[in-house]
Amino acid sequence: MLRAGVLVSGGGTNLQALIDQLGTGYITNCEIAVVLSGKENTGALKRAAQNDIPAEVCCRRDYATIPAYDKAMIEIFERYHVDFIIMAGYLSIVGEDFVSSYKNKIINIHPSLIPAFCGKGYYGIIPHRKALEYGVKVVGATVHFVTLEADSGPIILQKAVNVRPGDTPEILQQRVMEEAEWEILPEAVKLFCEGKLKVDGSHVYIEE
Ligand code: GRF
Repeated sequence: MLRAGVLVSGGGTNLQALIDQLGTGYITNCEIAVVLSGKENTGALKRAAQNDIPAEVCCRRDYATIPAYDKAMIEIFERYHVDFIIMAGYLSIVGEDFVSSYKNKIINIHPSLIPAFCGKGYYGIIPHRKALEYGVKVVGATVHFVTLEADSGPIILQKAVNVRPGDTPEILQQRVMEEAEWEILPEAVKLFCEGKLKVDGSHVYIEE
C-alpha cells in the first residue's frame, strides 16, 4: 500500500476527487497518509477532517528560506512515512531538496494544457483569464511529475476542454475542474500506484 502525502493550499476540490475515487476503489494500492496545507483554515483542511485524514499546516511565510521550508515539509512527510507526494491545488514553490527527495514521485495538477499558460505566475484563475484574453478555443488540464522548474516536468496525462461563447474565467475554471482536473488527477494517481508509469527523460510511458 503506497502512502500519499497531499499538498494543498485552497478549496481542496482536487483532494476531494482523490478521496472519492479511493472510496469507490477506482484508485487501489494507495492511502492518503497526511494532508499538508500551505495555509491555515483552508477548505482542503475541512475536507481532510470530514474524512478523518491526518492534516498538518506548514506555511511558507514561517520559513526564512526555501531550503528551510523544504526541510520542514520533508520532516512532516517522513513522520507519516509518505512514499509519494500529490500537489492538489498547491500554490507554494518547493526547492531542490524537496524535489530531489521525491524524484519522479511528486505529481502535480495544473489547470492548462502545458506548455501553454503555465510557469511562474500562472496559477488558480490566472491561466483561464489569460486563455480567454488570448482567444484560444481549447483549454484543459495537465498532470505531470514535478521537477525544479515550475510546471515543466514529464507529462503524465492531459485532457482538453472546449471554450464556450460567454465563458468567464470563473465559468471556465469550474468546467476545467469538473471535466478535466477531477478526472485526470485520480487517473494519474491510479496509474502511479499500479506501477504503470515509466519515466524516460522528459517522457512518461503508460504500461498497459
Ligand atoms: C484549481 O484551479 C487547480 O487547478 C489549481 O488550484 C485550484 C484550486 O484547486 N491547481 P483545489 O480546489 O484546491 O483542488
